[in-house]
Amino acid sequence: MIFFIIIIIVVYVLYRIILKPLIPLLILKLQFGKQAYLWYAPIWGLLKYNFRSLKQNGDFFDDLRKRMRQNPKVKMLLTNFLDKPFINFVDSEYVKKMYLDHQNFPKFNLLRYDNLIDKGLLMAEGEEWKHQRNLLGSAFTFEKLKSRIPMINQIVKERCILDPKTNSFDFISWITGEVVIHSFFGEIAKGLIINGKPGQVEIVNLVADIMLQRFKNTYTQIKLMILGNKGWRILATKKEKDINNRVDMLRNTVKQLIEKRLEQLQVENQREKQKDQFFLDIYLNELLKQQQDNERNKINIDLENVLQQFLTLFFAGTDTTATMTITCLVYLAKYPDIQNELLQEIQDLIQDQDVQDNHLTKFVKMNAFINEVFRLRNPAFSPFVRLVQKDMQFLDIKLKKGWMVVQRHDIPVIRHEHFSNPEEFDYKRWLINQGNIQSDNGFVHIPFGAGGRNCIGQHMALMELKIILCHIIRKFQVSLNPDVQIKFGIRFLYGAEPENCLIYKERR
Ligand code: HEM
Repeated sequence: MIFFIIIIIVVYVLYRIILKPLIPLLILKLQFGKQAYLWYAPIWGLLKYNFRSLKQNGDFFDDLRKRMRQNPKVKMLLTNFLDKPFINFVDSEYVKKMYLDHQNFPKFNLLRYDNLIDKGLLMAEGEEWKHQRNLLGSAFTFEKLKSRIPMINQIVKERCILDPKTNSFDFISWITGEVVIHSFFGEIAKGLIINGKPGQVEIVNLVADIMLQRFKNTYTQIKLMILGNKGWRILATKKEKDINNRVDMLRNTVKQLIEKRLEQLQVENQREKQKDQFFLDIYLNELLKQQQDNERNKINIDLENVLQQFLTLFFAGTDTTATMTITCLVYLAKYPDIQNELLQEIQDLIQDQDVQDNHLTKFVKMNAFINEVFRLRNPAFSPFVRLVQKDMQFLDIKLKKGWMVVQRHDIPVIRHEHFSNPEEFDYKRWLINQGNIQSDNGFVHIPFGAGGRNCIGQHMALMELKIILCHIIRKFQVSLNPDVQIKFGIRFLYGAEPENCLIYKERR
């Protein structure tokens, strides 16, 4: 009897893990032939090959890129993740359609941790998402954001002096983290300490620890698969307990800050309130308005929404901008001539002043350089993975409810179909006719995503990136650390490693 039960369990597990995802993938391969590339591996799917590529070639996506270039007819990569078929669309027509039909593809929360970002703008769907996007949208225009430029200059200059610069990731993410915290809370968050560490450092580390635990620890992985997100708190290991305690502490500290500002706003006069200077105030003013109007049928926000919106903006805005900045610095270190050309442009434009809003629009080489780095090494190589909401016909493919799908940003941009010499790093291509993209449907080069769910923080990211680059290039000669081997790996985002890959030598 026991023998039979064991056999049944083994057969079931094998079916779930191997056959369930593989059968639909094989059918699609038969249907699409050379237009589909099958790259299956039990449980880990594409990730297995990406990690192999990192180990063998020093780049997480090198192997994938080569295969996609050698097979220019491929429109979709057929792979799996755990027991689900996972379709990566690599052709810009599918990318376009998915971005335009985003409401049919809700995002899959990769963090898989409750009460952190699930209620924020990044993960919200439907009416909830629209409401949040409208509320925050006006605060993210260039016009509104430019009042933050002096603050960003100040933070960058300070860190350039205070940071030992032996760990580029700590150096830059301190800056980008502090910018988000200040933009959200204003002065009340100055000197924010969480779990005994500066706020920005602790949040960055905590998110990295959650991701590492979730993707690298098989016990956690299996628990989350069976129990859902509650798995973090059930039969928790020492490491999981540590993460849970840190999350609780983070939430408490941030909640206290929000409550403090709410009290301040309740006594501030109307004129002060209308300034909406910080992201937090936009939310709290809306909350106060709702309390006064006592409107019931509107989408109501509460303190939990505000808390998660902060964590969302921190999560979406800190690591992305920091990783992109470091990648830019790695390219400047690799190509000293380009570094000198950008230095010259900075000196011509702003001499030794702080960066101002009118400078930002005048950079030509810097903009072209950033575009080229985005083209070849976008930290957001794809947006969030989506789940198919219902069985549907999607262009020429039939998708089934529950499958995982994603639009790849990094494949159309390395294909001959769209760029000449696509493998070559040539920032000057962007000086002529916006990169001379061939057969462009408007969705070929989209570093910040596209359509209704594009990146709300893109002006803020570019503003920060340019200000940080200006100060660093002007103050330091950046070079590659000859003692380490530079790789492009993954820490949730795609970026350069190790952390000590760059050397900053003060210019005389
Ligand atoms: C180099 C820096 C950045 C890159 C490459 C980037 C990229 C992206 C991409 C590709 C998306 C679409 C995600 C998806 O649809 O799954 C996105 C969305 C988003 N980004 Fe960014 N981002 C950056 C910086 C920022 C910053 C600085 C903030 C805010 C402080 C921010 C906040 C957001 C938010 C809230 C969303 C969700 C928007 C929505 O769903 O309506 N991002 N970002």
